[in-house]
Amino acid sequence: MEKTIAIIRGDGIGPEIVGEALGVLDAVAKKFGHKFIYKEAPMGGNAIDQFGVPLPEESLKTCLASDGVLLGAVGGPKWDAQPPENRPEKGLLKLRNGLGVYANLRPAKMFPAISAACPLRKDIAERGIDFIVVRELIGGVYFGEHKTETRDNERVATDVMSYSEHEIRRIAHVAFQTAKGRRKKVTSVDKANVLTTSRLWREIVEGVAKEYPDVELNHMYVDNAAMQLVKDPGQFDVIVTENMFGDILSDEASQITGSIGMIPSASLGQPGRPGLYEPIHGSAPDIAGQDKANPIGTILAAAYLLRYSLGMEAEARAIEDAVSAVLDEGWRTGDIAQTGEKVIGCREMGRLIRERI
Ligand code: IPM
Ligand code: MG
Repeated sequence: MEKTIAIIRGDGIGPEIVGEALGVLDAVAKKFGHKFIYKEAPMGGNAIDQFGVPLPEESLKTCLASDGVLLGAVGGPKWDAQPPENRPEKGLLKLRNGLGVYANLRPAKMFPAISAACPLRKDIAERGIDFIVVRELIGGVYFGEHKTETRDNERVATDVMSYSEHEIRRIAHVAFQTAKGRRKKVTSVDKANVLTTSRLWREIVEGVAKEYPDVELNHMYVDNAAMQLVKDPGQFDVIVTENMFGDILSDEASQITGSIGMIPSASLGQPGRPGLYEPIHGSAPDIAGQDKANPIGTILAAAYLLRYSLGMEAEARAIEDAVSAVLDEGWRTGDIAQTGEKVIGCREMGRLIRERI
């Protein structure tokens, strides 16, 4: 098969981790007889430097015309002084919105080989961690009105959070569909004791649940969910939640599995339209350019791209098996190494995974 993949290298460690993921994709293309055509789409701080805006029109077009988009990470202190409308993160939000990718799937699964990196008590970790956060990605407070005005001689800042029925309904369907292929349990996370959006959320999710009688649904307040994630993560199968709660809980979820550097994500919209694939971590400017980053999150994101956008299940598995094999052999980047373990760099980790495809 011949497929076009839009590539956003981004900022900080972005170019390093994307470089390793492309090496792995090349190995997959060779082994399975595919041709992947890479089209560069600058986005983030580097795009601000080159074009003055975080998401040039041309980049969005390239992404829309592709079969799938692979992204490293964007942002860094260099662009902190940019006006809010022109920050690197704004490029990412515009891209998500432009692609219409409303469903963000973020798995939290512990690789047995690195269970020692799990910060939770041993008896909790041993019960296993394997759930997925389904985060609404293009609604809520991220996309509501943002303004600062002056009232009574002081500044007042406002961010508006709103959700419409169709936005809730479509993400709920993704959660129930996902649960059907797993342990058939959905936990919907909200703050219905305080927020109106959450009350609508609950009502709509309950309506959708009726279409999935074989899937169990429970509701949880977000503060309790944050606590349950560290107390008893084994209880979760699929967590569905709104944009900002999902942002926060998915960082917590990833960290309890050992390292945020290992977790990929898939952002999906209408079937047939390109999905967006990225690791869930940021651009880590403090270690950029030092060959220290863990490329596994991005490499696994490339596997997701093959699975969800290109329909290449065997190829995706080949990548995931190669990652597991390298971890089982004991290879570790700094973020997942225990004291005394030998640490390898980003390039070496990429090479080892590539060789095992
Ligand atoms: C994420 C990130 C982004 C988000 C930032 C960079 C805008 O934290 O993908 O989780 O908040 O969605
Ligand atoms: Mg985040």
